[in-house]
Amino acid sequence: MNETTYAELLEIAARYPEKRSGLLPMLHLVQSVSGQVTPEGIEACAEILELSAAEVSGVATFYTMYKRRPVGDYHVGVCTNTLCAVMGGDLIFERLKEHLDVGNDETTEDGKVTLEHIECNAACDYAPVMMVNWEFMDNQTPASAIQVVDDLRAGKDVRSTRGPQLCTWREAERVLAGFPDGLADEGPSSGPASQVGLKLAGQNGWSAPASTVSGSTGTVTEDKVEAVEQADTSRAESETKAEES
Ligand code: FES
Repeated sequence: MNETTYAELLEIAARYPEKRSGLLPMLHLVQSVSGQVTPEGIEACAEILELSAAEVSGVATFYTMYKRRPVGDYHVGVCTNTLCAVMGGDLIFERLKEHLDVGNDETTEDGKVTLEHIECNAACDYAPVMMVNWEFMDNQTPASAIQVVDDLRAGKDVRSTRGPQLCTWREAERVLAGFPDGLADEGPSSGPASQVGLKLAGQNGWSAPASTVSGSTGTVTEDKVEAVEQADTSRAESETKAEES
């Protein structure tokens, strides 16, 4: 925790009307510097946000993107959620464990790769999916996944299948802290499989139906009070009545 990092933590906190809203990106910045959330980083966030260390710890230990053990240069997450699992994700994860000689959430001896099985990345249309430092690697096979980790460990340039050239985990954490690296527009981003529905709708002249929710005027509300007044609470009300009866 040097002066520069502390100043950047202050800068993040100052971006928000309520400074405690800055805690999540601040923890990413701590990880970008230390490779994990450290006690020192927790203390610094707590001090700046006028929270207790226990409150900051509570957040850092709740979300799985915050790490309490050092992460390697590349965080490789294999989706083993239902769709990816049946499409080969389980097999990819097993093969990578064998190949890298690590277990779940462990780092290779050379400090290059940390392997973790992760939940659905909302990329099921490209299953089985792997993520490297939260960039998509679509339609993987055990062989392609092994090739990716071998190339990363050998220091070769590797590109995400739908994004930029892969940076290190610490560099990615800095981006998540809100310090852009200028690569946001690199790569195709949205791929053809995700656009099939849009394409079909275009070909058939389909559009989303107008809202028929009772109480909705279809207009954007001006403030919170108006939004509450317009909210459709009929379902909640009928459930409450059912419970009462
Ligand atoms: S199940 Fe793997 S991305 Fe959704």
